[in-house]
Amino acid sequence: MGRSRSSSPVGSITSINEQDLPIEENNTNNYITTPPYPTAPALISCRSVDNYEKLNRIEEGAYGVVYRARDKETGEIIALKKLKLDKEKFGFPTTSLREIQMLLMAKHPNIVDVKEIAIGSDINKVFIAMEFVEHDLKSLMEEMEDPFLQSEIKTIMLQLLSAVALLHNYWIIHRDLKTSNILMNNKGQIKLADFGLARRFGSSMNKLTPLVVTLWYRAPELLLGEKNYTKAIDLWSIGCIFAELVNKAPLFPGTTEIEQINKIFKLLGTPNEKIWPGYEKLMSTKSFTFGNYKYNNIRSRFPFLSENGLDLMSKLLTYDPEKRITAEEALKHPYFKESPLPKDPSMFPTFPSKANGEKLVLLFLFKKRKRKF
Ligand SMILES: Nc1ncnc2c1ncn2[C@@H]1O[C@H](COP(=O)(O)OP(=O)(O)O)[C@@H](O)[C@H]1O
Ligand SMILES: [Mg+2]
Repeated sequence: MGRSRSSSPVGSITSINEQDLPIEENNTNNYITTPPYPTAPALISCRSVDNYEKLNRIEEGAYGVVYRARDKETGEIIALKKLKLDKEKFGFPTTSLREIQMLLMAKHPNIVDVKEIAIGSDINKVFIAMEFVEHDLKSLMEEMEDPFLQSEIKTIMLQLLSAVALLHNYWIIHRDLKTSNILMNNKGQIKLADFGLARRFGSSMNKLTPLVVTLWYRAPELLLGEKNYTKAIDLWSIGCIFAELVNKAPLFPGTTEIEQINKIFKLLGTPNEKIWPGYEKLMSTKSFTFGNYKYNNIRSRFPFLSENGLDLMSKLLTYDPEKRITAEEALKHPYFKESPLPKDPSMFPTFPSKANGEKLVLLFLFKKRKRKF
């Protein structure tokens, strides 16, 4: 089959249909139907990874190694994520299949663009070739001396929310939103990445695994073992990311599930059946008890955030997932319309890129920049 990279950018592992994806547990919930798949690019044959020259290793994560590489044919610099397939005994792993499928479906200016799937010397070596993005928010914030400006945070949040709104519209839950999975290029554009845990909801709504989302960003319903969770779990993570952007420090850096829950309760107050119907039922399955914190102390953590900013944060960090704000609603929040207005991405400062292997000598440029909105 011929290859046309401009019109249909992705290689094939034959075609991927929803019925090919294993359902985690029995689907007993028949009244919800998943909407049809959005159009994904046509699947075509795979190129070999030999068409790329590896330049440097960017990062080794939970599911794969990521390299910066050059397309030998076009000279284009891309990122190559090698999927970890070796532990899989029975065929192609579900997580990788899902990751590829979700990334193909979700085309959006703020979602990392997949160029093609390339294969190595054997079928166990599979690579996702994506656009190269200079930074991820975690590494960037580690290098920065001061937090992002409010105008910059608004731009980052708007882009993130708009990417997640699209996913949720397609009935996809990302399930691993955190700063290291949010990439940012040197034009101030956010590119959501790492769809290793993403999955469609609806067709098999019942009994999803609650063991998703990195602990610090994990919603309370997941921590309490909820298996019928919804896309609202992504919005909780976005609340934690928003807080981290404001303070340049993680909001709830727990080391165990119990500590994680306690940190949340301590800041937001211990929930009850009145503010979160269903809470007691979830709690009844737990053998441990938590501190009884009467008050919500969120203001104390963000003394300089505007009332609107704090309102948005509280709506994202709402206990009851049914009452938690949606991505679409959050995009319309007054916080984004008040002064200082979101900064045009093209006005973002350029940061030296660790992923690019650039020396951090330019760091002082943004370490010393003046604090102004
Ligand atoms: N397209 C990309 N461009 C540049 N760096 C990337 C790209 N994709 C991922 N990375 C870097 O690699 C890291 C790990 O990638 P990720 O897809 O999150 O893998 P994992 O599933 O192992 O966490 C990211 O945190 C980021 O630093
Ligand atoms: Mg990751």
